[in-house]
Amino acid sequence: MKIAASFLSCKNIEKGIQKLSATDADFIHVDLMDGTLYKGRKFSVRKLKKIFKHTRKRLDVHLMVKKPKKYIRKFSMLNTESITFQIETEKNIEKNLELIHSFGIKCGLAISPDTEISRLRPYLDKIDMILVMSIVPGFGGQAFKEESISRIEMIHKMIQEANLDVKISVDGGINDETIKKLKYVDQVVAGSYITNQKNFQEPIDCLRKSAGLR
Ligand code: DX5
Ligand code: ZN
Repeated sequence: MKIAASFLSCKNIEKGIQKLSATDADFIHVDLMDGTLYKGRKFSVRKLKKIFKHTRKRLDVHLMVKKPKKYIRKFSMLNTESITFQIETEKNIEKNLELIHSFGIKCGLAISPDTEISRLRPYLDKIDMILVMSIVPGFGGQAFKEESISRIEMIHKMIQEANLDVKISVDGGINDETIKKLKYVDQVVAGSYITNQKNFQEPIDCLRKSAGLR
């Protein structure tokens, strides 16, 4: 199981990103909101670009915006491993997935807790990853929604039935207890559990230990 660390709850994002870069997290998770789809903390892409120029970690980008296209190009120029956007955008989903792939970057669809899982089905053979939101998108520090467990199971079943290799990532409320409940998951996104502590490496070690990786 891979760990993508989110800096969304860091007071000082420059410092936060620097500290996350010094850990052995597999990826830095970049949460981007612009107020069009979900409310939340906004960052300027220019500022992020400036900071990430000095970071060697690969980025796991999560776009919670109505028009992902605008940001796909910008993030494709950084050290980006994958770009995931919310399925709730509805328009141009296929085109945007193709655009991400055209840059040689993995693509994913994120799904909010209230969205029907069957909405993912038409895109299954076009994506590398599904990001299951285990909180309402917008803010870090929320409690893990228990119903996510059965949603993950249903998504896993759907992928198996289609005989495809689509990875499952889970985002929201991940800590050393909730991570133990996860099955069929290839990656977790963890924010406040890591960045609320002084030393960022220790909680990452705890997550790996709880997931049976260490
Ligand atoms: C929320 C973001 C999450 C958030 C997770 O919309 O997508 O990535 O940073 O934060 P925690 O781990 O604190 O729930
Ligand atoms: Zn996220």
